[in-house]
Amino acid sequence: MPSDPTLLILPGDGIGPEVMAEVRKVIEWFGANGGPSFTVEEDLVGGASYDAHGTPLTDAAMERAQNADAVLLGAVGGPAYDALDFSVKPERGLLRLRKEMDLFANLRPAQCFEALADFSSLKREVVSGLDLMIVRELTSGIYFGEPRGIVREGNERVGINTQRYTESEIARVARSAFELARKRDGRVCSMEKANVMESGILWREVVQEIHDAEYQDVELSHMYADAGAMQICRNPKQFDVIVTDNLFGDILSDAAAMLTGSLGMLPSASLGVPMENGRPKALYEPVHGSAPDIAGQGKANPIACILSFAMALRYSFDRGDEATRLESAVEKVLADGLRTADLMGPEDGTPVSTSQMGDAIVAALAAA
Ligand code: NAI
Ligand code: MG
Repeated sequence: MPSDPTLLILPGDGIGPEVMAEVRKVIEWFGANGGPSFTVEEDLVGGASYDAHGTPLTDAAMERAQNADAVLLGAVGGPAYDALDFSVKPERGLLRLRKEMDLFANLRPAQCFEALADFSSLKREVVSGLDLMIVRELTSGIYFGEPRGIVREGNERVGINTQRYTESEIARVARSAFELARKRDGRVCSMEKANVMESGILWREVVQEIHDAEYQDVELSHMYADAGAMQICRNPKQFDVIVTDNLFGDILSDAAAMLTGSLGMLPSASLGVPMENGRPKALYEPVHGSAPDIAGQGKANPIACILSFAMALRYSFDRGDEATRLESAVEKVLADGLRTADLMGPEDGTPVSTSQMGDAIVAALAAA
């Protein structure tokens, strides 16, 4: 019998360990109830690792991450580490993971839970039922291109960054987007600025070529990124998967995320190339940080981290049914009116704690 896949858990700092404790309950529930079971390993990252080892990520933890079937991370950072030298700051641990695992495709879903539709800044009918996925290229583009710097030209300074994409960098993120679309609604919209940027022209050509050669079953469209920004605000439900470069993806994914409300609800995944077993290298984490303002008080919303685990089920382990079941359990507890503090106004009654929310989600799983 093949052994269980390994899941490396890196809780990190602040509310990271608090929300991860709730994910553990979900993992244990699946394990005990015929769902997928995992060999769960745990290690330190960020400030927690710095406190124990003087580095935000040890070589041993890095090695474990490389060998794991998927990594699930809480959050890193906090005021206790703000004065540290740049080289050992908590964020460096996360950056090292992303870089050494070569996680070039960043997946940011924007999903509207019916019970929270009125929480959006947009009208209910615009966001109700929304389920879109932005795939942002994460390891190249203008944040990394050379030349870069601030140089002197005559009497003034000039700031320089370079947008540079190779064909293979575009091709691999395009493939990630098409593969995702096959597990979703079968549609990809690629966004660039081919009207004013050569890198955008190449982007459009390569995405189209990959589509025509390998993914004709997926519906592909192209849109200029500025028009895309308007469409995301005006009619986001027209999209299934959006694939775009690092810079546009940074902005568009933040904009799309806010269509559905709280930071405490937002999961993410970062994927790399397939490993020998066919699974992509993968790191799953909530979008939010370590929330030092509420850490240690049982106030954190564990849903972003729980939904990150649901993404792991779907995109690393081909357990889409269980992922949907977990998302439905989240939907159910929200429909029942359970709210952590971030999901309510000051007049809205009593919030539930982090662990009450986790327990309710497990109970909803069991009842389904
Ligand atoms: P943050 O995301 O930690 O918090 C922003 C606000 O949202 C805070 O008011 C916080 O209480 C609230 N919030 C965040 N997650 C929540 C949750 N699950 N439930 C309820 N409320 C939640 O961002 P901030 O304050 O800018 O950064 C705090 C620390 O986290 C810093 O050290 C920063 O560097 C680090 N950080 C780490 C990230 C990561 O690990 N991926 C990402 C962003 C920030
Ligand atoms: Mg951003």
